[in-house]
Amino acid sequence: MGHKLYTTFGFFKAAIALSGILIILLAILQWGLGLPLFLPGIALLLLAFVVLGFRILQLIYKFQLSRIHDTNQVEALLWLYSRFTPSVNLPAMREVAGSPDFLKVLVEYFYSHQPKVIVEAGSGVSSIILSEVLKKEGSGARHYALDHLEKYAGLTREKVLNPNSEVLYAPLKDYRIGGKNWKWYDVSVLENVDQIDMLVIDGPTEDIQPLARYPALPLLKGKLSDKAIIILDDTNRKDEQQIIRLWQQEFGLEAKSVFTEKGTVVMWR
Ligand SMILES: C[S@@+](CC[C@H](N)C(=O)[O-])C[C@H]1O[C@@H](n2cnc3c(N)ncnc32)[C@H](O)[C@@H]1O
Repeated sequence: MGHKLYTTFGFFKAAIALSGILIILLAILQWGLGLPLFLPGIALLLLAFVVLGFRILQLIYKFQLSRIHDTNQVEALLWLYSRFTPSVNLPAMREVAGSPDFLKVLVEYFYSHQPKVIVEAGSGVSSIILSEVLKKEGSGARHYALDHLEKYAGLTREKVLNPNSEVLYAPLKDYRIGGKNWKWYDVSVLENVDQIDMLVIDGPTEDIQPLARYPALPLLKGKLSDKAIIILDDTNRKDEQQIIRLWQQEFGLEAKSVFTEKGTVVMWR
């Protein structure tokens, strides 16, 4: 994490020295030149220190939270490696890619729900992890991971070595949903897929449109099994929170939050 200038001791030494000079200047202006600036100047200086103090408290909070998340990622990764040893080098996690705590949620739900059909919107390290777990457990589950970018579909495909797992290049397509225009993966690649009982939504990326992941349920609801669980990542973002509200209103879903660094919500009917 980069340090802000005002979190260094040097900054505080300089700020205090400058404040001292400013107070002397204000005193000269007030009592030397007769300008009534001393009290307003001191008030402004105090205000600046209050604002700075507040900002520093915010940074301390963020820093503490990121320490908790960092520790959780290590623990989640150890948990994953205790379940299986991947047969390929895993790509970098976090940032755009799935974080270990999210991947742990996927694997936990695989074990607890034993899905027979898994669909992921947004391929990547999550697809590799799920394909490895399915292989290790000898699960016959079918697993499909969509990606709208051919490059990333290809990179993930190279590391998905389970014949039951498929990475499908599904470019974005225009849809009309609820009287509005939307873009989402071309779901015709899932033509022969139904009874999805684990739907993981971690794509497309938020830059394609506001509420980028909203079309997932309107487009795939007819393909879900009765016991389907839907796992949405990045729910710390306002857009994803709005998507959950819309889905709950439109599809009557139950929802449970899981504490992960990007926020994960599990939903079911
Ligand atoms: C949130 S990511 C999907 C993450 C995936 N579920 C995982 O666990 O890694 C959504 C999309 O970002 C794109 N993507 C993946 N890696 C990327 C990278 N390094 N830079 C930019 N886009 C990337 C891919 O098209 C992917 O489908």
